[in-house]
Amino acid sequence: MSQAANPKPSLLASLMAFPATIWDSIFRNPVPSNDLERSATTFTNFFLHIHPVKVHKNSLRPAYTLGLGLISFWLFLILIVSGILLMFYYVPSTTQAYDRMLDLRGTVAFGNILRNMHRWSAHAMVAVVFMHLCRVFLTGAYKKPREFNWVVGVILFLLTLFMSFTGYLLPWDQLAFWAITVGTAIAGYVPVMGKSIQFLLMGGTSVGQEALLRFYVLHVAVLPAVLMLMVGIHFWRIRKDGGLSRPADADATPDMVMVDPSKAVLEPRKTYGIQGLVRGPLTKVGQIPDNTVYSWPNLFIAELFTFVITLSVILVVSLLFGAPLEEPVNVMHPPNPAKAPWYFLGLQEMVSYSAFWGGVGVPTLFVLGLILTPYMDRSPGGVGKWFSRDRLLANTLFLTFVIANVIFVIIGTFFRGPNWAFVAPW
Ligand code: HEM
Repeated sequence: MSQAANPKPSLLASLMAFPATIWDSIFRNPVPSNDLERSATTFTNFFLHIHPVKVHKNSLRPAYTLGLGLISFWLFLILIVSGILLMFYYVPSTTQAYDRMLDLRGTVAFGNILRNMHRWSAHAMVAVVFMHLCRVFLTGAYKKPREFNWVVGVILFLLTLFMSFTGYLLPWDQLAFWAITVGTAIAGYVPVMGKSIQFLLMGGTSVGQEALLRFYVLHVAVLPAVLMLMVGIHFWRIRKDGGLSRPADADATPDMVMVDPSKAVLEPRKTYGIQGLVRGPLTKVGQIPDNTVYSWPNLFIAELFTFVITLSVILVVSLLFGAPLEEPVNVMHPPNPAKAPWYFLGLQEMVSYSAFWGGVGVPTLFVLGLILTPYMDRSPGGVGKWFSRDRLLANTLFLTFVIANVIFVIIGTFFRGPNWAFVAPW
């Protein structure tokens, strides 16, 4: 009887249905055409399920996030893919590394564009992650309940810097060698442990084969693994913290009276039975506007858009500008001046005034200040708005540090010549 109801399909019909059968075994839902399917697709797809089924409209406002967190992630992804491809060719040896760079530039298929993409994405990631940090600070998004995710973010920023720094040595040219010599010397200014940290990093007293191997292992295995784990925690926490921050009045209707949460007098906690809640005269169900939209397609289109833009910009820049490669390492001829990578030039500039304060004191205070910010600034006001008046002091202090550092980086990059003397760049 069951055979009559479900006749066995013919061989031809099975063959014809073959592609659809395979497709259906991987993707359990059709391309969504209604809300139920939109939810099911987000929920059941491995790559999409980290997203919520619905997001608040405020999270999709480009003017709020500037897409900087996403762009940081896409750059990281481009770095992983291009980095793995480069690993098929690169050898972390002082006798081979530089020649491999020349081969990548000259003979390996797509070697040059791959190297350019890797290099420019790395610089871009340092800059974009820092800009993302600034956006989070200036919108007060580190406040409760996002304190811990802010700390995870600070760790991500330090990891990004360290990833870029360890990669800098790998081409084994003059630029790499002397930039890392200067960079590791800065680590040596740490009181008591400085020389030990320097020794641990370099595997000796100067930059050589041991340092190259250590930087390589850190760069291709240790740091990316830690960074991936921390990015996973970062995204998971965004979900657990209720999505992105938004202003307290983001869901207000014109007839709602907004209360400043810092001045609100809360009634002692009451408990209600479920029936009491449902029957009570104050049930507000349906009165709060629903400002959420489905992630499919709204959020996913925004994500795809930022990815396409990021990849296109990196591709165009990599086609137009070659990654630098100077003369092979010559330990007898340091360039004058020997400069650290640009993101550490602010430190190098400060070191020229005071080795301890510039290299260790100020950066340590800055990082500690960043980590402790959400635990010191406990007022709930000003979240979800750029440059809120409620946060005038915090934003002014933060921007003073940022602008001072940017000025130091500009001075170090363009206005410092031989013997670190002041020169005009023109
Ligand atoms: C590898 C580096 C990083 C990646 C890939 C990343 C990624 C993201 C993404 C995709 C978002 C959501 C969209 C957005 O806000 O743009 C986000 C939000 C957030 N990020 Fe990051 N981030 C990184 C580093 C940082 C840093 C350095 C900080 C701060 C020190 C930080 C703190 C936060 C916080 C607190 C949020 C929630 C913001 C809110 O609720 O408005 N992140 N991050």
